[in-house]
Amino acid sequence: MSRKKIVAGNWKMYKTLPEAMETIGTLTHALAVQSPKENVEVWIAPPSVILPMIIHNYHNRGISFGAQNCSEHKEGAYTGEISAAMIKSVEAQFVILGHSERRAYHHENDTLIHKKIRAALSNQLIAIYCCGETLDQRNAGQHFDIVRKQVTEALSGFNADEMSNIVIAYEPVWAIGTGVTASPEQAQEMHALIRETLRQLFDGKVADQMHILYGGSVKPGNAAELFSQPDIDGGLVGGASLVASDFTGIIYAA
Ligand code: PGA
Repeated sequence: MSRKKIVAGNWKMYKTLPEAMETIGTLTHALAVQSPKENVEVWIAPPSVILPMIIHNYHNRGISFGAQNCSEHKEGAYTGEISAAMIKSVEAQFVILGHSERRAYHHENDTLIHKKIRAALSNQLIAIYCCGETLDQRNAGQHFDIVRKQVTEALSGFNADEMSNIVIAYEPVWAIGTGVTASPEQAQEMHALIRETLRQLFDGKVADQMHILYGGSVKPGNAAELFSQPDIDGGLVGGASLVASDFTGIIYAA
């Protein structure tokens, strides 16, 4: 089964509008000079407030843009929230859901994340579903159980069609923003477990087609080895996606 590679940048709460425009300008220029391999897609999730302006200026330049979160509600009196329909209406293509920072600081759990995925899919957005264990959970030997449980709770109930619009990002919490990367072997064994879980929850076809990205201190220097693992279909990149030259290094490593 040959799956495409996705290199997705998660900008988190970094970059003002002028800073974002400058980085995307540099990035699109670099990608025009040297295109990524044909089976590599480049996605970026800037802060939502900046999304429409970026899309207006840089659509059709080889990058897909998306948001970092959406509400589980359709619309209503939810001050400060952004709906999936709003994200879709500015022609964004995907939304990151269940990131460990949302889980840690905004108390999101997999029941809520399931609803958010549902909202995204109902609005024809691709959902990047994030999962991953903490350091304590890994040290206690619970990492496989934790991730299996997360994937099962968040994704059970979707049909095969819906699953084709979901991408999974395995992001061990201890590797996010720490400079400590999971070894290619550690990442591969978890990705294989996730794919096996999908095989059990759905079927072989869903499991084989699913794109499973690795996230957590991906850098130009470690990307090639991570991405060459059989069950790793690209990366979700935080820190290194903020600097155009680092991000292109990762894109070309794919
Ligand atoms: P990092 O972040 O690449 O800075 O570790 C990854 C993420 O949080 O998605």
